[in-house]
Amino acid sequence: MKGRQERMMKKGWSGAAALWFILPLFVLIVLKTDFLPQVARCLDRARWQQQTLDVAKLEDSVVGAPFSVSSSSDEMTVKVDAHKDSKQPNLFLTKSGSKDSSLINSADVSATKSNLRCNFSSTHMDTCAMEGDIRIHGRTGMVYVVASWAENGTAVIRPYPRKWEQATMERVREITIRSTEPGGRDGIIPLRCTVTRDTPAVVFSTGGYSVNFFHTMNDIIIPLYITAREYGGHVQLLAANYDPKWTAKYQHMLAALSMYPVVDLDTDAAVRCFPSARIGVESHKVLGINPALSRNGYTMVGFLGFLRSAYSLQRHETISRTRPRVVMVLRRKSRALTNEAEVIAAVKELGFDVVAAGPEDASDVARFASVVNSCDVMVGVHGAGLTNMVFLPHNGTVVQIIPWGGMKWPCWYDYGEPVPAMGLRYVEYEVTANETTLKDRYPQDHPVFTDPVSIHRQGFNHLWSTFLNGQNVTLDIHRFKGVMQRVYMSVAAP
Ligand SMILES: *[C@@H]1O[C@H](CO)[C@@H](O)[C@H](O)[C@H]1NC(C)=O
Ligand SMILES: *[C@@H]1O[C@H](CO)[C@@H](O)[C@H](O)[C@H]1NC(C)=O
Ligand SMILES: *[C@@H]1O[C@H](CO)[C@@H](O)[C@H](O)[C@H]1NC(C)=O
Ligand SMILES: *[C@@H]1O[C@H](CO)[C@@H](O)[C@H](O)[C@H]1NC(C)=O
Ligand SMILES: *[C@@H]1O[C@H](CO)[C@@H](O)[C@H](O)[C@H]1NC(C)=O
Repeated sequence: MKGRQERMMKKGWSGAAALWFILPLFVLIVLKTDFLPQVARCLDRARWQQQTLDVAKLEDSVVGAPFSVSSSSDEMTVKVDAHKDSKQPNLFLTKSGSKDSSLINSADVSATKSNLRCNFSSTHMDTCAMEGDIRIHGRTGMVYVVASWAENGTAVIRPYPRKWEQATMERVREITIRSTEPGGRDGIIPLRCTVTRDTPAVVFSTGGYSVNFFHTMNDIIIPLYITAREYGGHVQLLAANYDPKWTAKYQHMLAALSMYPVVDLDTDAAVRCFPSARIGVESHKVLGINPALSRNGYTMVGFLGFLRSAYSLQRHETISRTRPRVVMVLRRKSRALTNEAEVIAAVKELGFDVVAAGPEDASDVARFASVVNSCDVMVGVHGAGLTNMVFLPHNGTVVQIIPWGGMKWPCWYDYGEPVPAMGLRYVEYEVTANETTLKDRYPQDHPVFTDPVSIHRQGFNHLWSTFLNGQNVTLDIHRFKGVMQRVYMSVAAP
């Protein structure tokens, strides 16, 4: 609830809220330069405030250094090369500082060339990609990028793609990425590998609003798909703010992304070494993928296909049938249908098979995915449950019932706009002032009815408690039947 609240608060469909949305870009990458100490201090003091490094200055300061920096205004690439003349394998120091060749292992020897690229330009997320000798120590939240000659640099990332929501991000654990020589800076010594994999690593977080299915898909699973799918399962996922219940609940999707169990980064004492890693996951838009921003041209149609395979869902696309199936996603505490039974009866009368699904039915994801996939149409009042549309077969139809209160735009933004890119069709039913239980609480001439947008302007909490938490819906059966009749015509066999 809270997450939803804050999330919508920043969405800015009313003039006042728009300000929340436009947050300054914040460049975090820190290279070994003369002003590293300043930057480090900035980071400590105001990591999430409006700090911007002067990238031009940064570039000047590294001219002539034996590594390359290419940068746009907010993206940087650092290549770290080994000493060309160094033939020696790297030795790593133990904590006491003594050299010990017994500590050389395969990851150590590979530490000739490392490469770290961070991108802080997105409003959604910060990400770093790195290759070479990568060592991850979960418990301390440290990622070392080790090279035999490294510029000493630090970047800090909270691996959750809601960068514009400060309150959310504060709950997400920080991961520190340090590029360093085997000797390390400030006495920090890259630890000896205890687990070495030849697969890439992806670090993400389940620490935002993972309790809600919309956020699970939007903030975690779709971003993991964009970030980690390309490895075809040969990737180690590591979760900050690890939640065992969450990983159990969504095990099918996680297992389709990675053949290894997710590592609990928070308690992990191992030093896990990888040839490459991505810290932070990529997110482009609400329940969507921008194929142009995706390295592999991923699409939502492809993502839905991925889910069908993860859950072994049978129906890849709808076929016209005389009794098309509708799943009605029912809510209980707010935005509930007060005349649920009548609505279901009316939809049946039109010739649909109806599956009525309450929150309890949706809690077993695998089971519910197959229920949804057996249907051609999903109907529901605006809410996270509609996210289950991702399990519909291709060409399925989503009918969103929009509650009273000038909510057309925000509701469309979440569960309307993303629909066509999923290969699904979208139909909207906007309730009238006659179809809301708000009329039992407010007189007809109240601003709730005469000027609902004025309630939005009073701030998000008002909007939330009035229009999202504060109403149930009594559908006008005749009017709703009209809309569903047209849906029936479009999906049923003639
Ligand atoms: C950095 O991220 C932005 C926004 O997601 C993207 O437009 C840009 O292409 C990225 N830069 C690189 C080098 O990947
Ligand atoms: C990185 O830090 C270490 C220890 O402070 C130092 O010996 C080394 O020269 C530094 N590397 C570079 C490239 O400056
Ligand atoms: C709401 O109900 C009243 C009284 O039943 C009716 O006069 C009015 O036309 C209805 N308004 C809408 C938008 O359906
Ligand atoms: C909506 O209906 C549910 C279930 O009947 C009830 O518990 C809740 O209080 C109602 N909410 C409003 C705002 O009427
Ligand atoms: C989707 O459904 C519509 C209506 O049933 C039909 O006209 C269209 O051909 C279908 N498209 C696909 C790709 O199945």
